[in-house]
Amino acid sequence: MSETVQRLEPLERRPLTDRTCLVTGSSRGIGRDIAFELARAGADVAVNYRSSEERALEVTDTIEENGETAVSVQADVSDPAQVERMAEAVRDDLGEVDVLVNNAGITVDRTFEDMTYEDWQTVIDVNLNGTFNCTKEFYDDIKTSEYGRLINISSVVGQQGNYGQANYATSKGGLFALTRTLALELASHGSTANCVAPGFTETDMLEKVPERVQEKIRQDIPLDRFAKTEDIVGMVRFLAGDQAEYMTGQVLGINGGMEW
Ligand SMILES: NC(=O)c1ccc[n+]([C@@H]2O[C@H](COP(=O)([O-])OP(=O)(O)OC[C@H]3O[C@@H](n4cnc5c(N)ncnc54)[C@H](OP(=O)(O)O)[C@@H]3O)[C@@H](O)[C@H]2O)c1
Repeated sequence: MSETVQRLEPLERRPLTDRTCLVTGSSRGIGRDIAFELARAGADVAVNYRSSEERALEVTDTIEENGETAVSVQADVSDPAQVERMAEAVRDDLGEVDVLVNNAGITVDRTFEDMTYEDWQTVIDVNLNGTFNCTKEFYDDIKTSEYGRLINISSVVGQQGNYGQANYATSKGGLFALTRTLALELASHGSTANCVAPGFTETDMLEKVPERVQEKIRQDIPLDRFAKTEDIVGMVRFLAGDQAEYMTGQVLGINGGMEW
């Protein structure tokens, strides 16, 4: 046994203390639990929602009751004017944003044959253009932050496509190319951009899928279950923290082993 004992520094308990994070679409589902996880790690969190004001307030109340700081802010991410207003409100309340999690997303499922231009546009507007709008608005914050992190929530569907989801798959696949490009452009500023690509996850979004289709999907998941939101949030916390500072331009799949 060596005489000098190597000291193992205890893990930081609150790795995101002094960081400000905005999570779009965090009134419910994956976004809500990402907001909780980032707050648990010590971050101040802005909780964005489109229409579920009450649920967004429940999220901020929960965070504040746990002694952390949170504000809720309404904005439809597909509308650049609303996103601009959201940015002003967040900066007034919490200061500049270090970590932007583009999580807001929707589905309008139909086979391509039946898909209208409106079905296509609605999904692209929220999932892809919404990510553009928010990233554009907070780009300078992320670029200049000592801890700048852009985290885009994509999907396994963006990787492998999915029957009845041409609009959604395209919007989520587009996020990979956007993230990779922004990773290159942000790198010289020491900021990072990564994608998390969840598999099918138990939220309201999955509830909308007919039961028989859910069963068929589940059979294709090697780990034989849908993801729970807690399977996803740890990766987002990791990407937001110091230990991920050398990791950029990546797509992190959390999908129970689905091939793509
Ligand atoms: N669930 C899955 O199986 C799964 C799998 C892979 C990836 N994802 C992705 O994970 C993200 C979260 O999905 P989820 O399952 O948690 O969805 P969800 O339960 O349906 O929640 C969607 C969230 O997005 C918000 N939102 C929707 N449209 C918005 C808009 N235009 N502007 C601002 N906020 C908006 C909603 O706000 P309101 O409450 O106000 O409507 C809600 O907070 C999405 O990007 C989704 O594509 C989900």
